[in-house]
Amino acid sequence: MTERYVFGTPFDTEAVLDKPAASPESALGHGLKLSADKKKVSYDLDKDDVIYGLGESLHGMNKRGFVYKTFNTDQTKHNEDQYSLYGSHTFILIEGAKGSLGLFTDYPGLVTYDLGFTDKDVLTITAEEADYEMYVITGKSGLEIITEFRKLIGKSYKAPLWAFGYGQSRWGYKCEDDIREVVRRHKENNLPLDAVYMDIDYMDNYKDFTLNPEAFPKFKEFVDEMKAQHIHLLPNVDAAIKIEDGYDMYEEGVKENYYCKDENGEDFIMAAWPGKSVLPDFLRPEVRRWFGLKYRFFTDAGVDGFWNDMNEPALFYSLKGLKETAEEISHLKDETDTLDLYSLWHYLDTMNALANKPEDYRSFYHEPEGKRIRHDRVHNLYGYNMARAASEVFNEIAPKMETLIFSRASYIGSHRYAGIWTGDNSSFYSHIELILHQLPNLNMCGYLYVGADTGGFAFHTSENLLKRFMQVSLFTPLFRNHCALGCREQEIYRFKDIDAFRNLLNLRYALIPYLYKSYVDSIENNKLMFTPIGLAFPEDKEARHIEDQLLVGDDLMIAPVYKANAAGRDVYLPEDMTLYLMKSDKDFTKTELSKGHHFINVDIDEVPIFVRKGKSLTLGKPAMSTAELE
Ligand code: GLC
Repeated sequence: MTERYVFGTPFDTEAVLDKPAASPESALGHGLKLSADKKKVSYDLDKDDVIYGLGESLHGMNKRGFVYKTFNTDQTKHNEDQYSLYGSHTFILIEGAKGSLGLFTDYPGLVTYDLGFTDKDVLTITAEEADYEMYVITGKSGLEIITEFRKLIGKSYKAPLWAFGYGQSRWGYKCEDDIREVVRRHKENNLPLDAVYMDIDYMDNYKDFTLNPEAFPKFKEFVDEMKAQHIHLLPNVDAAIKIEDGYDMYEEGVKENYYCKDENGEDFIMAAWPGKSVLPDFLRPEVRRWFGLKYRFFTDAGVDGFWNDMNEPALFYSLKGLKETAEEISHLKDETDTLDLYSLWHYLDTMNALANKPEDYRSFYHEPEGKRIRHDRVHNLYGYNMARAASEVFNEIAPKMETLIFSRASYIGSHRYAGIWTGDNSSFYSHIELILHQLPNLNMCGYLYVGADTGGFAFHTSENLLKRFMQVSLFTPLFRNHCALGCREQEIYRFKDIDAFRNLLNLRYALIPYLYKSYVDSIENNKLMFTPIGLAFPEDKEARHIEDQLLVGDDLMIAPVYKANAAGRDVYLPEDMTLYLMKSDKDFTKTELSKGHHFINVDIDEVPIFVRKGKSLTLGKPAMSTAELE
């Protein structure tokens, strides 16, 4: 059952399209307490209560014991000291002694979730303004509540089957030949591949919907050449538009007044990859349509996949902020003889604070339906509406294509328009574990087409780390190897043990029929594709604290190895299961295991897959691309 409470005058995020009638505030029950200013809802936690949700946020699968801030942030450090990432997924599920309770706070600005941090026994949800909606969902079980919530927010975006193929990406592929080389080396080594990603380097000076003409002289022919080899190209599309006289897109937007404004009504000037830029006001339908139709530049050439980026929006600086900072640090030149440590820190902090400044997010405006609204109040809707811009027109501009789109920034509602990837992780073992925590929590918030940068984006990967990363990613819908400029090249053909990597890819392609079926089933029936065993076996007290095992679809359970140099791992089985230790789709051992705790030995080249009682492991035949799957 869903109850809806409305506080103040909320902005309609369109997260929920078909809203149930509002309940009077006095009906708020289930142990929830509303503060006098109505900004805060609190709840007393029992010792063993588990809190799921908050989508891609950091920390454990059980979110208890930390503070989370939902304010979409271009966060390059996915460490334990961070409060926010790129997406704001404001649904939580409390599982505990008093039963199960789902809470969705529909507020598009900053919401702070203190989940037993300040007081270990108290949960508080605080919206920055008392203008929000709170949905309270009850049901017989956590899984039932999740299904109810997912019905409320509407059916998730469905990616095409080819989007389950393996993709190779790297920030730094500059021209046609760089991409050709990736494809050739995959083919030479019999390594399956479906996609090569085009990061910002393909553009002409980082201008959206342009190509560097020297690097891509005959783009349409190049797309066809790739298509003939069953390779999809996926260009990166950034939110900010370069300010440049003569750049048609920039000039059109100026003429039509499509950009966000500063407090004086002038175009708000900020910087991202193109240098000084402006931000399209995606909250306005006519701006969305204008921007969406621009994708034609690519779809007309036969491109059918896109990743939207930098759309929190990331602000490297605002022009105003840059000027203030330059003024402030100019004083340093007078202090070179007297500078003490505190002043030094002040200057260092001043420079570091230039990007993504809270003041900057408070200094520009949107004009949805002609009403001026300050950006920070609707901040989390920006990437959502950028994804919507493209998704809403694909049927019109590319009716015969099966397009794929995923985004970095998101807010619940955007799950109907696009998938997401989890942004700039690092080549750390702990970031493999993080994927296991994020997957079910993203699924409950509606995000089914998801995946992480395999191998890690920042820092340098190693052969074994990449293997362990792949052993998780080969189960996720988006399976993309991506890394940052300057980091060790991590295309799999660069490593010694290509046979083992080929085996992993073959296993992925053999699993695609099962994975895609489970994915579609999760969309159609508002289920999780990745289920924590604590939710699947609510009566099992041991299962509720297991954070590194997941059911995948209805038949399988995974318990990946994610520790460096580990010879195996502990696994808890909530029921009897069959363990397949898979070296490839054809080479495996099979062991029956009974309910309970086990230590399993897992070689670096093995993937443990557990088959649930009464179910079986159904593998297809591997292929060099999804187009060649039988
Ligand atoms: C951002 C993206 C990353 C991309 C880079 C350059 O950091 O998250 O994936 O490679 O920008 O475009």
